[in-house]
Amino acid sequence: MPERVDVTWHAHSVTRAEREALNGHRGCVVWFTGLSGSGKSTVANAVDAQLLARGVRSFLLDGDNIRHGLNASPELLAEYGDSFARRFGLGFSAEDRQENIRRIGAVAQLFAAAGIVTLTAFVSPYRRDRDAVRRQVEAQGAPGDFIEVFVDAPLDVCEARDPKGLYQRARAGQLPGFTGVSDPYEPPQNPELVLPSAELPPNILAQRVIVYLQSCKKIP
Ligand code: ADX
Repeated sequence: MPERVDVTWHAHSVTRAEREALNGHRGCVVWFTGLSGSGKSTVANAVDAQLLARGVRSFLLDGDNIRHGLNASPELLAEYGDSFARRFGLGFSAEDRQENIRRIGAVAQLFAAAGIVTLTAFVSPYRRDRDAVRRQVEAQGAPGDFIEVFVDAPLDVCEARDPKGLYQRARAGQLPGFTGVSDPYEPPQNPELVLPSAELPPNILAQRVIVYLQSCKKIP
């Protein structure tokens, strides 16, 4: 049995609705998922820029950056000692990815509660992990607060792009458990949006996200 820890949830004086009224738009989580190299970060950055230009408060949580801080690897935590680094550092096993997504989900939920259009760009290969974030975000907020965006590019296109040279290393056997090569990717079954990122440029795809956010009244 895990150790029991007594913690109590406190209501805040300032409500989410008040923050959203101040901002002039709703908070929500726009969850980009897709293979490495599919264009998640590029499209999410384009959405972020388009939202800024429209006076919408947004923020992007991005896989590679978050794995330098909040979800650092055991190597990056070495200065805290072996046991700490092993316990809290994250790699790419299914369980580590689950915890990566769980932590990001909790952070994204806080941003959404602050009234911010929160963009996340993580491979997030497991349906179960994404669905858990959806449930959590919608339970704290409302149905429709979690917008799953499948950045859909075929593996061969992602592999040909190979912006970080990781596919090449994975094929050479130097990167075990690489998503799409030697680890699974489970595409969303009912995403709010599918962006064909091998066919259309990032700005056009970003525009589709903006139109979606308008259509469901998250932004004016
Ligand atoms: S996730 O699976 O836990 O959601 P996340 O989005 O944080 O992954 O990080 C993925 C990024 O880490 C990839 O874009 C790639 O640059 C890098 N990476 C390193 N090793 C792996 C791996 N084994 N599988 C997938 N991505 C990896």
